[in-house]
Amino acid sequence: MGFFIVFVVLLILILIFSSKTLSPIPYFPSQPVDIPLIIKALKLRNGQTVFDLGAGDGIVIFEAAKEAYRKKLNTTFVAVEINPVLILVLHLRRLFHPNRKNIKIVMGDMFKIYLMNFINFKNFITIYLYISPWFLEKTIYNIKKQFETFRVVSYMYSIKSLKKKEKIIRGKNRIFTYN
Ligand SMILES: C[S@@+](CC[C@H](N)C(=O)[O-])C[C@H]1O[C@@H](n2cnc3c(N)ncnc32)[C@H](O)[C@@H]1O
Repeated sequence: MGFFIVFVVLLILILIFSSKTLSPIPYFPSQPVDIPLIIKALKLRNGQTVFDLGAGDGIVIFEAAKEAYRKKLNTTFVAVEINPVLILVLHLRRLFHPNRKNIKIVMGDMFKIYLMNFINFKNFITIYLYISPWFLEKTIYNIKKQFETFRVVSYMYSIKSLKKKEKIIRGKNRIFTYN
């Protein structure tokens, strides 16, 4: 009986993580060794809202929120994720986070979500992206419709339409920033 339950749970997880609807971009966390560089690239400050579109298990958002807490910043962090299993993980991790009051977990589709609903100030919008390169332009298009000015930090993949503003930080993988 125990084996059967484990089998069913594993099967459900495999189906969720391989579903094109629930996981259109595969889940790979950002490399832990690059997290300090990513946090530096986010340029945390008071009044800023940082979105991780496709937040995965929250490695970036939770570490960045820890840093903001340490520096006593009132930065808001918004983790947007479509996969229900990862949403559950994000909620559990948020429960035990020292800066949880500044962290929002949102189940939604990054291509359609109305990000304005989750910001306190219109200034200082920073978007973190670690998504398949062929989805980058579609995501940027959705962001541009909503914000006049924003910064983007893209892990591993360059964004062609923002090329003029590009700066590169070299870690284990490259981190592209756009001001
Ligand atoms: C490569 S992982 C990056 C995870 C995390 N941002 C990090 O850097 O560790 C991409 C994530 O995007 C999520 N995702 C895929 N399509 C999505 C969509 N349309 N809307 C929101 N999240 C999505 C996946 O479930 C996955 O967790």
